Amino acid sequence: MKSTSSPQDPPISHKFSLNFSSPMEENSLSKLLPPPISTQTLHQKISYAKHKTPLRSSKLPKTPSLSTCTTNPKASSNDQSPSFPEKRRVLIVGAGCSGLAAIKSCLDEGLQPLCIERSTDIGGLWNYKDNDATGNAGIYRSLVINTSKEMMMFSDFPPPESFPPFLTHEKVLEYFRLYANHFGLLRYIRFGAEVRRVSKADDYQETGRWKVEYVWRRATRKRSRGISTDEAYNSSDTESDTIQTTDSTIHDLFDGVMICTGHHSVPYIPQIPGLAAFQGHVLHSRSYKESAPFLGKRVVILGMGNSAVDIACDLAKSAKQVYLSSRRGCWLVPRTTFWGLPADMLANSRVVFTLPYRLLDWLVQVQANFRVDHEAYGLRPHHG
Ligand SMILES: Cc1cc2nc3c(=O)[nH]c(=O)nc-3n(C[C@H](O)[C@H](O)[C@H](O)COP(=O)(O)OP(=O)(O)OC[C@H]3O[C@@H](n4cnc5c(N)ncnc54)[C@H](O)[C@@H]3O)c2cc1C
Ligand SMILES: NC(=O)c1ccc[n+]([C@@H]2O[C@H](COP(=O)([O-])OP(=O)(O)OC[C@H]3O[C@@H](n4cnc5c(N)ncnc54)[C@H](OP(=O)(O)O)[C@@H]3O)[C@@H](O)[C@H]2O)c1
Repeated sequence: MKSTSSPQDPPISHKFSLNFSSPMEENSLSKLLPPPISTQTLHQKISYAKHKTPLRSSKLPKTPSLSTCTTNPKASSNDQSPSFPEKRRVLIVGAGCSGLAAIKSCLDEGLQPLCIERSTDIGGLWNYKDNDATGNAGIYRSLVINTSKEMMMFSDFPPPESFPPFLTHEKVLEYFRLYANHFGLLRYIRFGAEVRRVSKADDYQETGRWKVEYVWRRATRKRSRGISTDEAYNSSDTESDTIQTTDSTIHDLFDGVMICTGHHSVPYIPQIPGLAAFQGHVLHSRSYKESAPFLGKRVVILGMGNSAVDIACDLAKSAKQVYLSSRRGCWLVPRTTFWGLPADMLANSRVVFTLPYRLLDWLVQVQANFRVDHEAYGLRPHHG
């Protein structure tokens, strides 16, 4: 696929950007959106959502027209009528959990989302692959999430009760699928398409719109009996078919853009003197999948974040020796705490935040040291 980006157009950055920037647009937008919700009402809404079963499909959105044309209904900024004939269009880049929540939020606000996802499935990094050629962040086979299901859940869609408190990566993906299906989000996603460039539209000053270029890889299935069908990208019925892919570069205009491309896709390997000359195998945690290739080997892990600790435990099953190396120590906090409660639930409870900081700090340290004496293991970090 070829990119046609030009130097004057800014590349897509890994940040969230929902831009309705001209003042007139903001005024017009406010007519479209419900009145602002006070913080108190928002809290009420959230706690209500947490305790009720999810909304049923009566409020599900209609299928939008996902036109590939370059036109967009022109927004009239001085229109005095209370409602607009056309919905504002929002581009969402990426269909990981952030992208899915973004689609749902757009629908809730009466906006018209189109999500562009370069892979052929939802889930982003939680879609485990033995080999991932997409350039996405990677996860390993043994990964279990470190946030409890209560803390990680979408507030309007609790995971099934039968799910364990800490989900395996398979369960995380299953949960995202349940969410996407429940709210009918898949119909707003265009798979196999990669956003290449987002820049201000020519009429940006008046409309605040964004110009978007994306490459859509479409598969054509040629049947042996001569019939060809489009949209075969996800099809598994390929026994007697040949799949041909065609790339189309598409230009489109949107009123807002939400970048949901993840923030763990670019691996960071620090400059370490002598690393280039090292004869052994050097791997970033992003590419680690399982311990089998390290059978009988001596491995040193640099860093002591969650990836490092998880991978050290996994490697210990096969490797001859595993070393963890930390430049300044760290607090080891188990997933569960007193009475087997998820630690993040306790840590984020309102009672905890009423405690003075020094007392809270001391309590956390006592609890962490109860499991592992950080001083004795040389792990006590410089920071409290
Ligand atoms: C090993 C690991 C473990 C983690 N564990 C936890 C945890 O326990 N709890 C927690 O809360 N968080 C955890 N995280 C953080 C994680 O980043 C989030 O949980 C979450 O997956 C981020 O979702 P996302 O949708 O923002 O990004 P991603 O899941 O990375 O999805 C981004 C999507 O954007 C698509 N995309 C990228 N560029 C383009 C483009 N140009 N055009 C079209 N599509 C594009 C990608 O294909 C992908 O599908 C973990 C992260 C890692 C790396
Ligand atoms: N089970 C899970 O759910 C799970 C598993 C893996 C990752 N995650 C999540 O994924 C995200 C990324 O985690 P991560 O562990 O991959 O990365 P991370 O949290 O950024 O940790 C990176 C580690 O590398 C060290 N480091 C960085 N530069 C260094 C240098 N120049 N020299 C020596 N050490 C250096 C850091 O040390 P310092 O602390 O001293 O800076 C830190 O210990 C986090 O949000 C994490 O929670 C979750």
